[in-house]
Amino acid sequence: MKEKEKIYEGKAKILYKGPEKNTAIQYFKDDATAFNNLKKSTIEGKGIFNNKISEHIFKKLNQIGIKTHLIKKLGEREQLIYMAEIIPLEFIVRNIATGSLTKKLGIADGTVLSKPLLEYSYKNDELGDPLVAREHITEFNWALSTELDLINNHCLKINSFMQEMFKNVGIKLVDFKLEFGRASINGKKEILLADEISPDTCRLWDMVSEKKLDKDRFRKDLGNVIEAYQEVAARLGIGR
Ligand code: TMP
Repeated sequence: MKEKEKIYEGKAKILYKGPEKNTAIQYFKDDATAFNNLKKSTIEGKGIFNNKISEHIFKKLNQIGIKTHLIKKLGEREQLIYMAEIIPLEFIVRNIATGSLTKKLGIADGTVLSKPLLEYSYKNDELGDPLVAREHITEFNWALSTELDLINNHCLKINSFMQEMFKNVGIKLVDFKLEFGRASINGKKEILLADEISPDTCRLWDMVSEKKLDKDRFRKDLGNVIEAYQEVAARLGIGR
């Protein structure tokens, strides 16, 4: 097989050129980072679980009308995707206060929010992905107002869907991060859900014990990281 041509290497994934001009191959690594790369490690098998879990969720979201970059899973660690121009924002949806929200604003950890809270962070590692307002986004042309309206709706729809999906398997969806991109598919401009949705990008707590089943196990040195990812896959019915 021909050597794949690398387009971009991120902290947890690599993008290679795809078979068609508007496609790419997204490869899930086992590398884990936290706190903007200050903490680094390898979690054996993480890429395999994230690929599986993300494929499962993206397919389901597609069924409820969310267009995504996923074309199909190619192997244990690879997905064929549409190449999208990533909007340089992280869209964070929170149902329960924890993480940076509690640190920045002094809100008590575990506070249940009256309704989903949507935050925007500017994707820039050197600046530490700072929180920004809608006004920054439109002023600096990171996204159009019309794009933000559509994405905000998507974020809330995805949150409702995933809350229910995880509730059905005894998991609380505490918060998560989404990324979106612009792509041209069959000559039509589309906003696509991109990147991944996995225990790397969500906070997932067991409904009863509140045991953390996500990357916080790595961030906070709680141990049994891969076991938690495996448990999420198993509960979703996509374990081995
Ligand atoms: P935060 O509380 O650290 O801001 O994180 C909120 C959610 O976003 C949490 O589910 C983890 C996820 N997240 C990412 O996926 N990537 C990131 O770079 C950060 C900072 C958070």
